[in-house]
Amino acid sequence: MALALIRTIEEFRRAREAARSAGSLGFVPTMGFLHEGHISLVRMARAENAVVAASIFVNPAQFGPNEDLAAYPRDLDRDMAMLEAAGCDLLFHPSPEEIYPPPEQDVYVVPGEIASRLEGAARPVHFKGVATVVTKLFNIVQPDRSYLGQKDGQQVAVVRRMMRDLNVPGELVVGPTVREPDGLAMSSRNTYLSAEERKVAAVVYRALCAARDLYRSGEARADALRDVIRSTLESEPLVASIDYVSVADPLTLAEAEGDVADGAMASTAIHIGKTRLLDNVILTRSAGSNT
Ligand code: PAF
Repeated sequence: MALALIRTIEEFRRAREAARSAGSLGFVPTMGFLHEGHISLVRMARAENAVVAASIFVNPAQFGPNEDLAAYPRDLDRDMAMLEAAGCDLLFHPSPEEIYPPPEQDVYVVPGEIASRLEGAARPVHFKGVATVVTKLFNIVQPDRSYLGQKDGQQVAVVRRMMRDLNVPGELVVGPTVREPDGLAMSSRNTYLSAEERKVAAVVYRALCAARDLYRSGEARADALRDVIRSTLESEPLVASIDYVSVADPLTLAEAEGDVADGAMASTAIHIGKTRLLDNVILTRSAGSNT
């Protein structure tokens, strides 16, 4: 089936109803400028569902006033070619007015403590915007399964919690982080890095792997794990600033105190030049977890 480009909610609802008899629908929400990380989710959705839908919507509500909304990279033709090649059936690509029609939106989905930490501390409106638009998209698309990448580990935790607390139907499937050969997590924002910055950007993953290696060598103290992440990042002169270094419970994102157990999420966000990079790994005693 060729990829159908759908720009309005009404048209999407009609396509959704027409597809209902085919079987389950898998949904990959994105902001476009797709890379292998997104496409791996589309492939997972293709393998597990009769119908696959993706969305491309650069959601203004999840950007703060001084963030990169206007500069966010966009390339619809390239994205459509990639989606079609991966077997996506429906692409929902609404305008901002379609999702946020006048008068101004008054009702939002506002996550609590889980969104106040890590990314939420640095980007106060971000998860309110994410939870609101994901709720809208889920209500429009009505997916049986939705696919998000572990790369945005806190987003996964917020959406999982939102689905649980608001009894949102459907399953959330989390795909592993897809990395460049040097370990840099794929992200649409990597395109902002200069050639010189790109050469050193893998320090983020190296720092997280240093914590994972230390954990595997028997060190379980959360402070020691955070210290090795920080010192690895600080050894790279092009790291301009570190927003946070965290070892936290992967469900609540509460910062770990004392010894951590398998499954804790080590994460960080840093600036290299003007580019903000974030990444995480799950701490496990045994190898084999591909994050
Ligand atoms: O991860 C993203 O691309 C966005 O935050 C999402 C989930 C599509 C919501 O706008």
